[in-house]
Amino acid sequence: MKWYKVLDINDLKYPFIKRVKAGNTTIALVGVDNEVCALSARCPHAGEDLSYGWCKNGKLICPVHRYSYDIHTGRGSVGQGDYVDTYPVEIRRDGVYVGIKEGWLSRIFK
Ligand code: FES
Repeated sequence: MKWYKVLDINDLKYPFIKRVKAGNTTIALVGVDNEVCALSARCPHAGEDLSYGWCKNGKLICPVHRYSYDIHTGRGSVGQGDYVDTYPVEIRRDGVYVGIKEGWLSRIFK
């Protein structure tokens, strides 16, 4: 696991949804109710950018066709049959960090 600083601690102001990079992985970073969650920014439905969406009732909603994903588990809502990858988050003294598993497979399948 490699940890990437994706947000300076001074920029941590709730609520927010930001598009950030953790290595080669593009993340939708969601800050709500004093916690931060990290999900893949790529919507599995048609590939749009989830970081342009909004958060409601613990779900990140895609701005294009309004599919929604649990911000903690990445699981799609009932009937969708899909999910987005989620990543561990640590809030440290100097910033917000996202952990990405490293390995040859992770370099091929982003
Ligand atoms: S592209 Fe996200 S719901 Fe269709």
